[in-house]
Amino acid sequence: EFHLHPKEVELASNGFFGTYDQRQLQRGLQVYKEVCSNCHSLKHVAFRDLTQLGYSAAQLKKFAADWSVKAKQFDPKSGDTTERPNTPSDYFPTVYYPGTGNPPDLSLITKARHEGPAYVYSLLTGYRDQPAALLKKFPDAKVPDGLYYNPYFANLNIAMPPPLTQDGQVTYLDGTKSTVQQNAKDVAAFLTWAAEPNLPTRHAYGLAVLGFLLFFCILAYGAYQNIWRDIK
Ligand code: HEM
Repeated sequence: EFHLHPKEVELASNGFFGTYDQRQLQRGLQVYKEVCSNCHSLKHVAFRDLTQLGYSAAQLKKFAADWSVKAKQFDPKSGDTTERPNTPSDYFPTVYYPGTGNPPDLSLITKARHEGPAYVYSLLTGYRDQPAALLKKFPDAKVPDGLYYNPYFANLNIAMPPPLTQDGQVTYLDGTKSTVQQNAKDVAAFLTWAAEPNLPTRHAYGLAVLGFLLFFCILAYGAYQNIWRDIK
């Protein structure tokens, strides 16, 4: 009864005709980069995949090379593992997290959780004090040290400290007003893209198929009328 269903969030990718808002994905990438990537990996996304967000090859080359976690490279001769700057063909390198808890890889999180995009948005904006009613009902259920109360998390107590705590934490390059709500929404959009980059193509095919079938329905109905025209 204390666990809450994700709040509805309006994203361009929602629904039948859903597609991505490129500028929103760019803002979401910025939130991921500046906040989430300190703890969470994105191992199924390659830097060059970001072409879909509207960056040029040169921009991506620089973006990959500047990424703070470096690519690991095994040298078969010496047997050493060395580090080198990322290139566009590299996947986002895995992040080492020293804290308690295990931040999951975020590549597929919007698929792994029920109503993923809405869940991510709700989780990020859902931190609050533990309701007094909960303690009254379950006196032993105080939030353990090092955990945080969040009614959207299945356990209610999550090991992730609230990552988005104040408006303006990220300064958007496109001038969009940066509020916690906006940051959460943008990063939810970005993670939706990460999990299903070809959603717009899938939707377009779906619609084309429906159009095709509809056309043949009309044709079949016309043929039926025609064939039985003279028969009483
Ligand atoms: C868990 C998203 C930033 C540490 C999670 C989960 C999501 C998420 C969706 C999974 C919850 C589940 O299992 O259903 C994000 C996003 C971030 C962000 C979008 C940026 C806006 C951070 C940061 C840290 C962190 C900065 C570290 C300081 C963790 C940990 C967990 C977690 C430890 C595991 C929690 C548990 O299982 O109790 N995060 N996170 N996250 N995150 Fe984050």
